[in-house]
Amino acid sequence: MAPNREHTLILIKPDAVEQDLHLTVLARLEHTVEGSRYVASRILQFNPDLCREHYSHLTEKPFYKNIETYMCSGHIWAAVLEGPHGMIPAIREDIGATDPTAAAKGTIRNTYGTKIDLGNGEYFTRNVVHASESQQEAYEEIRRLFLKEEIQNSAPEFAEKLWPATE
Ligand code: TYD
Repeated sequence: MAPNREHTLILIKPDAVEQDLHLTVLARLEHTVEGSRYVASRILQFNPDLCREHYSHLTEKPFYKNIETYMCSGHIWAAVLEGPHGMIPAIREDIGATDPTAAAKGTIRNTYGTKIDLGNGEYFTRNVVHASESQQEAYEEIRRLFLKEEIQNSAPEFAEKLWPATE
């Protein structure tokens, strides 16, 4: 693996898959940073256990049940994007802030996301896409959702790094 390559997990959430936005969003994110490429992708379905693991930092929030219902409501496209140093924050910038109405104009979430005000300053959003916040978070998320066999043909050194061979 060339030094300084970064990897991130992209999830195209059920609202976007239902609206047939998954290819549009995946194609856009592949071109956000020059020199990026997908090394794995597949369609999957979240269940409540998987959702709780992925969003473990939010399970105590009042809106968590909304997230679970939403994320388990349909298919999700999961993809592993590999790119140069700096790709992870650049992808986060292109998808935009969590709240689509606060996200910068032209970002994916601002363009396609929806928001429901829950009162008491809380909101729930169907915001189209997830992208890992850091390299460490990406490694954990990718390990949870993919198998080594799904990555090792296209990115053998990365697969070995995530799932070291045990003797
Ligand atoms: P979070 O990990 O905080 O944000 P991000 O997806 O930008 O990394 O939140 C995960 C998802 O939970 C977020 O994409 C949408 C939902 N969410 C809400 O609906 N309301 C909220 O107040 C927050 C913080 C998140």
